[in-house]
Amino acid sequence: MGSITIQGRVPLQGTVVIQGSKNAALPILAAGLLTSEESFIGNCPHISDVFRMLRLMKSIGCEINRQTDGYTVDASRVSRESVRLTGEAVAGMRSSICLLGALVGICGEVIMEPPGGCAIGARPIDMHIEALTKMGVTFSFQNGMMRAVAPELHGAEIRFGKKSVGATENCILAAVSAEGKTTIQNAATEPEVSSLCHFLTQCGAEIEGIGTEELTVYGGKKLYGTRFTVPADRIVAGTYLMSCIGTGGDVFLEQAPAADMTAVILTAARMGGKVWAGEEGIYVQGPIRPLPVPFLKTGSYPEFPTDLQSVLLAVETVGDGETIIEETVFENRFRIADDLNRMGAKIEVCEGNKAIVQGVPYLKGANVTACELRGGAALVTAGLMARGKTVVNDSSFIYRGYENICRDFRELGARIISG
Ligand code: UD1
Repeated sequence: MGSITIQGRVPLQGTVVIQGSKNAALPILAAGLLTSEESFIGNCPHISDVFRMLRLMKSIGCEINRQTDGYTVDASRVSRESVRLTGEAVAGMRSSICLLGALVGICGEVIMEPPGGCAIGARPIDMHIEALTKMGVTFSFQNGMMRAVAPELHGAEIRFGKKSVGATENCILAAVSAEGKTTIQNAATEPEVSSLCHFLTQCGAEIEGIGTEELTVYGGKKLYGTRFTVPADRIVAGTYLMSCIGTGGDVFLEQAPAADMTAVILTAARMGGKVWAGEEGIYVQGPIRPLPVPFLKTGSYPEFPTDLQSVLLAVETVGDGETIIEETVFENRFRIADDLNRMGAKIEVCEGNKAIVQGVPYLKGANVTACELRGGAALVTAGLMARGKTVVNDSSFIYRGYENICRDFRELGARIISG
């Protein structure tokens, strides 16, 4: 599973280029199945979740070719009758579910294992199933497999009870192939949902309300191939931004998508960071010691992202006072609190979804273990801030979302090495 070793207490300094977005690339690759011609998808991050998605797409006959800065996707040989998705790539990755929305649009039958993903909560797929059922898909479950049959998809009126990024994306993917109009109310407005819509409209789909909570998709249009560039990853940028705040550094995050990071930038400013954001990226100067954030709640976009809650928690362990964080999206996102406490932090988790952090002057290096992607990255940040040596075990979780976190932090002057 690998490990990362860090000698901490070096303020991060310099420039790092932000990789392409994982959460945008995965559904866009799946959307490549819907076009009648080859598409080129550029700036895909080189991360294990993207490799898994490509393996899955290849396993059903999709032709994928790696180019200098992306992949060509040609789905002309994918069966129009039945496809079967099994194995570690499905079970180990939540995003394999977005293949369902794309595939029910082009084949009559999809058989797949229920998707896996990071252990950050129950992560059910009831909203995906409910929405696709309304569009004409029939589901059955047997021997641990899910079977979706869709002789014909039709438009529907979908109203989600709560916001879900994945269910919104799946619905859009199915709706572009369905005959007629689909409306999606209470749609997730995350920038990655908009990126998927932009890719599809570039291919010829008709989607109204992009970036809002009410989307209208006029389905059944022929989709052509296109060239599309995946935007930079706001979560990776946010991780490095928070790490700069935690180490009192001075960093330029080249290509960071500042316009999509307002809540994070405002939070960084509340923590005493000086932030200048522009089209080329974000410049950030960390304070001598982070200021505490009296209360912060995660939420759907445009609120503070749950994916950056762990790194915020790690940084506020050395904040100059008390910080209270409430997690509202996933129930299991404070699993790193025990490891941070072993590094000298004072975190109390109450009612499962609230962490009360009493900032301490410094953390001490320790042997810790990643249990999931974002928590693992936050432990690396804690190691960068800590006195002495930190080893983060099971680092393979981190490579699901970060191309090369050691290289990136080394470029910023950190003493960090994998192994
Ligand atoms: C996506 C992101 C993930 C991010 C999350 C929230 C990708 C690949 N992953 O995950 O990084 O943390 O959005 O911004 O884009 N829910 C249900 N039933 C469902 C679907 C979801 O109850 O059928 C619940 C979830 O358990 C969770 C909440 O809805 O509590 C939001 O989840 P969702 O937005 O669907 O997350 P993902 O799409 O899995």
